[in-house]
Amino acid sequence: MKNIVIFASGAGSNAQKIIDHFRNSDKARVALIVCNKPGAGVLDIAQREGIPSVLIEKEKFFHTDTYVNLLKEKETDLVVLAGFLWKVPDNLVHAFPNRIINIHPALLPKFGGKGMYGHFVHEAVVAAGETESGITIHYVNEKYDDGETILQERFTITKEDTPETVARKVQALEHQWFPVIVERILLK
Ligand code: GRF
Repeated sequence: MKNIVIFASGAGSNAQKIIDHFRNSDKARVALIVCNKPGAGVLDIAQREGIPSVLIEKEKFFHTDTYVNLLKEKETDLVVLAGFLWKVPDNLVHAFPNRIINIHPALLPKFGGKGMYGHFVHEAVVAAGETESGITIHYVNEKYDDGETILQERFTITKEDTPETVARKVQALEHQWFPVIVERILLK
């Protein structure tokens, strides 16, 4: 049984899709949900799904091995960042080489990096007059949104599109592909 640990800061819709995808699997499961935001929707999902969750503390996260040790205790096979807004510290990246992945709601390397999340991304894409957008699933390294790309899926932006409609199209791609990629990496 492979253990997936999801890191999330927000609503958790991607976490929910991954949980759903492995619900009846005998090969992999979501073993833990890690969150940095009290009251985040993803914590409600964890509770409803009976999945252990941990609310992490900034000092410990960035300056100790507390959570690296926790992930090792959980025999973590893959760390999945699903809307996690803190940068992953080097000790965690080094502890799980090529076993941390992230999903970004745009076609990296454009529209990535610090501050590029949620509606800010889609507003920037539309304001730049881009003719397409999409998702990037990539390995996590020591820099923001910089690791090796695993998958990109895209769609054409029409002149009727707004940041809100672009966000909806991006989210549809996220929900369609993230669970598939998690399975492909874990069970390859
Ligand atoms: C998604 O847009 C994802 O691409 C980004 O953070 C958002 C998470 O949304 N990294 P949710 O909390 O999974 O609904």
